[in-house]
Amino acid sequence: MVPELEKATVRIKHPERVMGIIRSIKEQGMSKLQVISDFDMTLSRFGCNGRRCPTSHNILDNSHVVSEDGKKKLKDLLHYYYPIEIDPDRTLEEKRPLMVEWWSRAHDLLSQQKILKGDIAQIVRESDVMLRDGFNELFDQLHEYDVPLFIFSAGVGDILEEIIRQANVFHPNVNVVSNYMDFDDNGVLRCFKGPLIHTYNKNNTVLQGTEYFQQLSTRTSIILLGDSMGDLTMADGVPSVENILKIGFLNDKVEEQRGKYLDAYDIVLESDETLDVVNGILRYILIET
Ligand code: C5P
Ligand code: MG
Repeated sequence: MVPELEKATVRIKHPERVMGIIRSIKEQGMSKLQVISDFDMTLSRFGCNGRRCPTSHNILDNSHVVSEDGKKKLKDLLHYYYPIEIDPDRTLEEKRPLMVEWWSRAHDLLSQQKILKGDIAQIVRESDVMLRDGFNELFDQLHEYDVPLFIFSAGVGDILEEIIRQANVFHPNVNVVSNYMDFDDNGVLRCFKGPLIHTYNKNNTVLQGTEYFQQLSTRTSIILLGDSMGDLTMADGVPSVENILKIGFLNDKVEEQRGKYLDAYDIVLESDETLDVVNGILRYILIET
């Protein structure tokens, strides 16, 4: 059915159940389908040749527009809070206030750097960001079959939009909800617009007021793509979900996090920097008869 599921990176706790979901999504047809995806470390790569790739925040943190002092402070925040973000031994309730703290402190620091709206394109061009292998097929296939792609990101919206624009895949079926920068009349960053989206509030609470989910209420089959335990709630705002297939990229602390990921995600992709499995499933759903 989907040969990519035989890849060595694929782990599935309940294979029969997963095949059942994929078959029902296909039966329902492409007019019922939508894809809801995280951005950083899900559509973008986690690593390349043993080196970490940047998140949309890191792209700003490392850019030439941030002072050395600013860079150091942002790196200190990353080193303090990132281990908390992925700590399998802390509950989401424990993590939530700490994530608000991280994002707020980072956004405050970035807002002191006089970043210009006009610099964003160059900042992205000069960064080491990479989309996962197979991104072209994913974006182009969804566009061709008119399947909405909703990107729900706790990263920086202006940056990630620029990444997909520069990759020539920002098609009209793509919608983004994320943290956007607020520039003054001179195009200088003054703050970030609310509501703040962090790893563990990616749910209805921040989607109220965005009309996106209402428009898509007839799209009752969902493929959800994420890399964090916080991404699992991204589809909670969809009023009537008939079939949902959750695919999780397990990038870091693979051994420690495996159990939780296998319980929570239908398909777990371990240290897999490609979109092969997602593309294989979509090819089966959209194309094969
Ligand atoms: O789009 P996504 O939800 O994946 O974006 C959030 C990611 O950005 C988190 O996984 C977090 O590690 C990272 N982050 C960062 N710098 C910050 C805040 C978050 O790299 N200041
Ligand atoms: Mg992510």
